Amino acid sequence: MTKIVSFINLKGGVGKTTLTVNIASVLAKINGKKVLVIDLDPQTNATVSLISQTDWQNINDIKKQTLFHLFNDKLNNLKDFDLDKAIIKNVGGIKNLDLIPSSLNLVEIQDRIIEIGSKSFVSHIDVLKTELAPIVDKYDYILIDCPPNLGAITLNGIIMSDYYVIPTTPDILSKIGISLISNRIDTFKKVRKDCIIKLAGIVFTKVDYRTNLHASTQFEMRDPTYHLSNFVFNNELPQRISIAESPIDNKPHLSSPTAKTKADWRATQQLIRNIVDEFITKTL
Ligand SMILES: Nc1ncnc2c1ncn2[C@@H]1O[C@H](COP(=O)(O)OP(=O)(O)OP(=O)(O)O)[C@@H](O)[C@H]1O
Ligand SMILES: [Mg+2]
Repeated sequence: MTKIVSFINLKGGVGKTTLTVNIASVLAKINGKKVLVIDLDPQTNATVSLISQTDWQNINDIKKQTLFHLFNDKLNNLKDFDLDKAIIKNVGGIKNLDLIPSSLNLVEIQDRIIEIGSKSFVSHIDVLKTELAPIVDKYDYILIDCPPNLGAITLNGIIMSDYYVIPTTPDILSKIGISLISNRIDTFKKVRKDCIIKLAGIVFTKVDYRTNLHASTQFEMRDPTYHLSNFVFNNELPQRISIAESPIDNKPHLSSPTAKTKADWRATQQLIRNIVDEFITKTL
């Protein structure tokens, strides 16, 4: 059974993309799973964490096979997007890790996506799910890297997901933001009764052990009095130079030559693998 998991936070820069790409790489290479990453963010951060900027430019401009082309087809009655061609195989130097890339051009059309419903038989929220239906079964995991909002593009990910993970830095405003996300998703589920997404967990990211604030926020959120404490992962991702630098090679931490030159690589890679083990049990 394929598990489809969206990585969501309304806050920007909290490590959503980093967590998505690194969990995906370990699932594929270490756990032997077949994994697809879908980059729903026009910033294309997950895309260029797994393929080079030059390859992306070629795919965007010449081959016309990004998520922009999928949505643009529906808006303008075109037929550029071809799913078989759009899936890039074995990305980041990792076998069985595939990618559907995003595009900066999505910015231009994201406010018009809502018009799709009136132009086709599919609602603007079901475009991605409908398109991917034929290939979902080929994967053990489909991980969706969402932009920092709950707009129409993100809802395309949510409607097809079994679970969502909230990556968060452990600080006060982030803690407040978590309730907003889960409330918004619950409200959406009341409108779309076919949406089965459930919270898999909250993962602390970019944890800085030198700050009392991070320690105290983690303590509060792990305390049973916090209403989501059961969802907080035991394992967390610290702030590490090897994690920050791996996108230099357009590769995840696991396969990045630059990351491997850092003294913390081995210990940090083990922490990512611990998160993945917990991720697997929380998305059964
Ligand atoms: N554990 C970490 N250690 C060090 N740097 C990190 C870590 N996680 C993320 N970063 C860095 O923090 C920045 C933001 O991370 P990332 O792009 O993953 O966040 P995001 O939540 O996806 O952002 P956005 O909301 O813009 O999509 C990046 O420069 C990334 O390299
Ligand atoms: Mg991101």
